[in-house]
Amino acid sequence: MIELREVSKKYGRGAVGADAVSMTVEPGNIVALFGPSGSGKTTILHMIGLLLKPDSGEVIIEGDRVDNLPESALADVRRNRLGFVFQSFGLIPLLSAEENVEVAMRLLGRGGPTAKAAVTSALERVGIDHRARHRPGEMSGGEQQRVALARALVHGPQVILADEPTGELDTATATYVLDMLRSVARSGTVVVLATHDPLALEFVDEAFFVRDGTLHRPDRGELQLWLTEGEGDLATE
Ligand SMILES: Nc1ncnc2c1ncn2[C@@H]1O[C@H](COP(=O)(O)OP(=O)(O)OP(=O)(O)O)[C@@H](O)[C@H]1O
Ligand SMILES: [Mg+2]
Repeated sequence: MIELREVSKKYGRGAVGADAVSMTVEPGNIVALFGPSGSGKTTILHMIGLLLKPDSGEVIIEGDRVDNLPESALADVRRNRLGFVFQSFGLIPLLSAEENVEVAMRLLGRGGPTAKAAVTSALERVGIDHRARHRPGEMSGGEQQRVALARALVHGPQVILADEPTGELDTATATYVLDMLRSVARSGTVVVLATHDPLALEFVDEAFFVRDGTLHRPDRGELQLWLTEGEGDLATE
């Protein structure tokens, strides 16, 4: 389970990244942060991902408060307990799909046959094992995103954070990746997405709406309209 308690973050020049954001996500669940550009979605994701330190408030992962740990311990939590997926995949161009996934295990100091088996199983899990020897440049966007997902889950993280994971994918591929993320969540992981993709609404257990750094729980119908009708105004409580 992850929990944010009244988490706030201000950037220089007064830009508000997050304003007293509280949320809880149970293992097995996938949730999405929707909201206008600049509203604070990535900021919230990065605070959960321990890439950004909140000014105040608490970040709790599986009962452990993690936001106030020293940097070396933060790095440990990031590597061991978290997995990241980005819009632009972030794969290393010269490495094959399986080598890209292997890197995540090496960073944890895990090697040998057990690590190798974990890599193969992660690639199988996202249905990309038939491209194991291909480099990113030899794969479609959707295939690359599946490799990136395999890399994010190979070490069995408790939380997967995905920032605009379908931003560069067509509808069919985006649907596949979202379905994948949901099934990863169902296996007992927490999955949190930041997204503009209306498709994501069908795949998430809870949809949050972020505006000026504050978190809202909108009516699904209204959110759907907001997403499909050019992101105008949306009534929140
Ligand atoms: N490193 C930074 N320094 C200063 N201000 C920042 C920084 N990162 C984000 N901001 C500001 O904080 C606010 C929230 O940004 P954030 O990136 O979280 O938005 P977002 O909802 O992810 O937007 P998008 O949909 O465009 O990705 C914005 O006003 C942004 O300009
Ligand atoms: Mg963002």
